[in-house]
Order: sequence, then C-alpha cells, then structure tokens
Amino acid sequence: MERIEIENLAVQIRAARLEDAGIITRHRYPGEMGEHLAVYEDWLPTVFIGGVYLGWLAQSDGRVIGGAGLLLINWQPSRTDPHPLRGRVVNVFVEPDFRGRGVARSLMQTALAEARRLGLSTLNLGTSEQGRPLYASLGFQAAATEMWLKIKTEHGLSGDSPASNRIP
Ligand SMILES: CC(C)(COP(=O)(O)OP(=O)(O)OC[C@H]1O[C@@H](n2cnc3c(N)ncnc32)[C@H](O)[C@@H]1OP(=O)(O)O)[C@@H](O)C(=O)NCCC(=O)NCCS
Repeated sequence: MERIEIENLAVQIRAARLEDAGIITRHRYPGEMGEHLAVYEDWLPTVFIGGVYLGWLAQSDGRVIGGAGLLLINWQPSRTDPHPLRGRVVNVFVEPDFRGRGVARSLMQTALAEARRLGLSTLNLGTSEQGRPLYASLGFQAAATEMWLKIKTEHGLSGDSPASNRIP
C-alpha cells in the first residue's frame, strides 16, 4: 500500500480487490440506479480474475474516497506500437468532499506507473468535462480519427447515456 500526504490529508492508495466490485461500480455510475449497475458489478470479477482489470482505491481514515481502473485491452499491434495490449483508463472518481486536493492525480500516477511497468505504450480513455484538465495535464490528447456506432440489440438495457454524444 502506498501512503502519501496530499494537502494535509493522509491518503493510502491500495490495489482494488474482488470484494471492491460494489464500490468500483458506484464510482463508475455515481448516484445512478438501474440494472446497468448490477450488470457491471457482476462483470467485474470476470476481468479481475484474469488480470484484465487493474484497479486502485484511495483511502483516508479507512474510508474509500476515490478510485481509478485500468482495463487491459487486446487491441492489436500497430506500426508505432508493437505491444498488442492497450490500457483504457476507467472509473476515475473522487468523493466530492475530497476533490481538488490531488487525489485523482495520485490515482492516475499510480495507474500510469503500472502501465509503464507492464510495457504499455498507448492508453486511452473517455473523459467528462471535469476530468479533461487532469488528463490533459498528464499528456492525454483528443483523437481526431475515432468513430463509434451504437447498434440496437434485443439485450440492450433501457435508459439513455447521460450525455448524448457519449459512448453508452
Ligand atoms: C474529475 C475528478 C476525478 C478530479 O478529481 P480530483 O481529486 O478533484 O482531481 P485533482 O485534485 O487530482 O486535480 C487534478 C487536476 O484536475 C484539474 N481540476 C481538478 N478540479 C478542477 C476544477 N474544479 N476545475 C478545473 N480543473 C480542475 C486540475 O488540472 C488539477 O490539477 P492541479 O491540481 O495541478 O491544478 C473528480 O472531480 C470527480 O470524481 N468527478 C466526477 C467523476 C468524473 O468526472 N470522473 C472523470 C471521469 S472521466
């Protein structure tokens, strides 16, 4: 466990465990209700076990105050990146009372250090407006060439994505 002092706040960053699936799901969908939460929580162990999902939680006084995840995606090697795996940063969240004190930055630095250790050279993520300055300051750039398509299927869950131009 990494212990750090952030703006007079003692914070520990620890690896997430299987039993943290509920907390991670709430970080992904803060304040939301609906069947998509159970779907996500049930899915997490399947990627945890194979080491496909790596997660970190920030704790203060024994309470989880934030988290971040790194999903290892078998993308394919490319001209500039022979490593087939790419990292997708997901579930970056800090409890409102603890924001603006560097907690998310520390979580991201932990995730980036692990990505480097694994030899990954390309990471991507989807951002909220709140997260954009943080990711930009860490060197993330917007991609000009990505497109996505949503195909309606029978097993699609009801409910709209909160932002209309966001990948649901
Ligand atoms: C986005 C979020 C994770 C940031 O967490 P945080 O712990 O407050 O962030 P940090 O204190 O580590 O700040 C990191 C950087 O983000 C930016 N930032 C943080 N809060 C900001 C604010 N209110 N306004 C503008 N920039 C801000 C700054 O660039 C800051 O760097 P600096 O401290 O060197 O100036 C947090 O606001 C959050 O959980 N929001 C809701 C969920 C969300 O949007 N997650 C991102 C999903 S992609």
